[in-house]
Amino acid sequence: MHVQKFQHTAEETVQQPQPLSKVNQPKAPEAFRNYTAEERGSVRAFYRLNHTHQTLDFVLGKKAEYLPLTRKRMPAWEALEFLNTLIDDSDPDIDLTQIEHAMQTAEAIRRANQPRWFIVTGLVHDLGKILCLFGEPQWAVVGDTFPVGCAFSERCVYPELFEDNPDRHHPVYSTKYGIYREKIGLENVHLSWGHDEYLFHVVKHRLPPEALYMIRYHSCYPWHREGAYEHLTSGTDEQMKKWVKAFNRFDLYSKGDGKPDVEALTPYYQTLLNEFFPEPLNW
Ligand SMILES: [Fe+2]
Ligand SMILES: [Fe+2]
Repeated sequence: MHVQKFQHTAEETVQQPQPLSKVNQPKAPEAFRNYTAEERGSVRAFYRLNHTHQTLDFVLGKKAEYLPLTRKRMPAWEALEFLNTLIDDSDPDIDLTQIEHAMQTAEAIRRANQPRWFIVTGLVHDLGKILCLFGEPQWAVVGDTFPVGCAFSERCVYPELFEDNPDRHHPVYSTKYGIYREKIGLENVHLSWGHDEYLFHVVKHRLPPEALYMIRYHSCYPWHREGAYEHLTSGTDEQMKKWVKAFNRFDLYSKGDGKPDVEALTPYYQTLLNEFFPEPLNW
């Protein structure tokens, strides 16, 4: 397969995010991800499954199953259309289709005058959710991610729901460092399996490092929002965190914007996808 490497270095193309006040935020930030406000029973039920079954063995098994990327070859735009039937049970905020969420995120980034690689990252960031359409249960695709193979942090969402996870009682995996060592770096840490890690591997040769951090860790709220697991992260991880956080605001708070006009925006985003992903991707 011909793989065209990403042609720009990060220094050439990366610019600091513009002030986020440029992004419409009609819904107050604290109103998002508020799981307790409405007693979202289905969200809690989702995390009970997720926290019980995401073990180190499970994650290693899914990596062996999916990361050879031999399932299918599919252009990015086709993947976006393929994904569009999915409704994300883990998300307490969203009432948009996946394609609307993708464009809404990308449009918020575009309105904030960010570079094209950042806009395309907004468009594709959730494409890994096609795992659901390959038959994976939602608890193995969406929701917050967290390290496995070491102790679960109390700063994970619903930490009490880890109680039935077998790793919680494992002699090594239940310890602070588990199978890792101090400051080993996130790239050497197995996170719970989901759409972030999967998509990272699908696009990793085609986007700059900042974009890949956004894609790979955008669901790792315990790290990028709660400040957990700093004993495992490297200096690079901590430097890159600002990009993940910058991305997160577009992903999360753009949900309060009006629905994007998918039909009108399609030509622009098809051109953008062709620029970064001129060939079909391996899934
Ligand atoms: Fe996501
Ligand atoms: Fe998203």
